[in-house]
Amino acid sequence: MVILDMQQKVRDPEQVKYQYANWAERYDRELEEHWQYIGPREVAEQVREYLKSGSRIADIGCGTGLAFRFFPNSHITGFDFCEQMLRQAATKIEGLKQQGIDVRLELADVTNLPVADNTFDAAISVSVTEHIADLAAMIREMKRIVVPEGIVAFTAPETKLVGCIARSQREVWQLLQNENLPLVKVFGYRSHFEYAMLTRPAIYKCFICKKST
Ligand SMILES: C[S@@+](CC[C@H](N)C(=O)[O-])C[C@H]1O[C@@H](n2cnc3c(N)ncnc32)[C@H](O)[C@@H]1O
Repeated sequence: MVILDMQQKVRDPEQVKYQYANWAERYDRELEEHWQYIGPREVAEQVREYLKSGSRIADIGCGTGLAFRFFPNSHITGFDFCEQMLRQAATKIEGLKQQGIDVRLELADVTNLPVADNTFDAAISVSVTEHIADLAAMIREMKRIVVPEGIVAFTAPETKLVGCIARSQREVWQLLQNENLPLVKVFGYRSHFEYAMLTRPAIYKCFICKKST
């Protein structure tokens, strides 16, 4: 019974924060050694095609900053509400400067970003929507902070993961229509998570959108 509850109950934001606070120091090591975590690289490779050198990129729910290294010659601002995850991200800043990647970090909730409208060329988010009950609010913020013609790209798992929200491609597509955010590309990838009882591959979709003028 307890196991079933764990699988079905989506954690509230304070629980999510607590989970990542406890995980922060081990996060990179576990993802790289035990999980075949390819999300940041997969998303960056596709999103880069829409960006110029020197682009201003917002990484929404950046965690420890695993996506930063895949955006050479760019200005990245990483937003996350977990201080411990941002502290890990901060340890990468000096090394990234060598690749022309300039990083700033901000403690913030993804549904309420402390940023002026039209500030970034792109807003990306990898492995975050599964924690966000009000996905429309997060997408609205991502859309608001990018310039017209700017890119909004985020991932969403179709597989139900422990304590997380799964969304079908149709559900996300409908939400994007409601928010008047044109979709330019969708692609899928698999991640092999050895997390709790889930040992089968998790199917993720990445949605790349372009804000209209
Ligand atoms: C699975 S991690 C992904 C981190 C990073 N994007 C990556 O791919 O490694 C999810 C991150 O989302 C953050 N997060 C979850 N809900 C959030 C919210 N409402 N506001 C800000 N950050 C949030 C967590 O603190 C955590 O760092």
